[in-house]
Amino acid sequence: MQDRIARDTDALKDAVRRHWQAEPCGTRGASPAERRAFFDEIERDRYAWEPYIKPFARFERGRGLKVLEVGVGAGTDFINWVRNGAVATGVDLTEQGVALTKERLALEGLSAEVMVADAERLPFPDGTFDIVYSYGVLHHSPDTRAAVKEVHRVLKPGGTAIVMVYHHPSWVGFMLWGVHYAARMRPWVSPRQAVFEHLESPGTKAYTVDEGRELFAGFARADVRPQLSHGDLLLMPPATKYRKWHHRLAWSLYPRWMVRRLGDRLGTGLMIEAVKAGAP
Ligand SMILES: C[S@@+](CC[C@H](N)C(=O)[O-])C[C@H]1O[C@@H](n2cnc3c(N)ncnc32)[C@H](O)[C@@H]1O
Repeated sequence: MQDRIARDTDALKDAVRRHWQAEPCGTRGASPAERRAFFDEIERDRYAWEPYIKPFARFERGRGLKVLEVGVGAGTDFINWVRNGAVATGVDLTEQGVALTKERLALEGLSAEVMVADAERLPFPDGTFDIVYSYGVLHHSPDTRAAVKEVHRVLKPGGTAIVMVYHHPSWVGFMLWGVHYAARMRPWVSPRQAVFEHLESPGTKAYTVDEGRELFAGFARADVRPQLSHGDLLLMPPATKYRKWHHRLAWSLYPRWMVRRLGDRLGTGLMIEAVKAGAP
């Protein structure tokens, strides 16, 4: 359903591009005064708020392998693939994401190919990469299914896709539903619709574990599990639109301890590791 709504909408993809061009992922709250310090701060915050990223990505497994990252954003994970010795290529829909990632590589004296490209039409031949990594990206693209097919196409036989898309149901979905619909006397609008309309760029999708498995059904195997995220725990600074007094109050009273104790089942992350059929 959500895929059908979003499919083939160039206008929606333009809106996604404009959103991420204006606020590259992970840069909220950091001051661009001194560039190296700026990037260090982004990196420190990212892995402090999301300590599960490194064990999920396992950047060290990229050493000597051809790794593609789809949707580099501000380039924090990408620089970790490169630092760990991967022969890395990065793409993003926005020039801003590409520019930040290139600047970061230059500051560390590292080199890798980074370019503007669309996940739904990757500019690489079939069977190019050992690993394709994409964290928090493919659910933003209007035709997520096409993007997953592209990930599969550009992987070598036996290659690994490491992907995070948003999970449903989640605490973040319920919070957005509460703020945008329940509190405005429209409780019949679903949390999924709240994610679609209000989570980051317009048209964001979220998948159940079964839907995630189905999305990656073209792979020989796919491990799919939800992950409680920093968003579910409200760890990062709120977006500008959520800085009114009642948002601040809810932020400070939010029962993080209880959410933590309830575990990963209602986490916003859907962590997927999928292997393409064939011998490596
Ligand atoms: C939430 S950010 C994630 C960035 C980075 N992976 C991270 O975890 O910080 C989403 C990124 O996906 C990119 N993006 C969205 N749709 C895309 C598409 N169709 N092709 C390539 N990149 C896309 C956006 O430009 C943005 O940089």
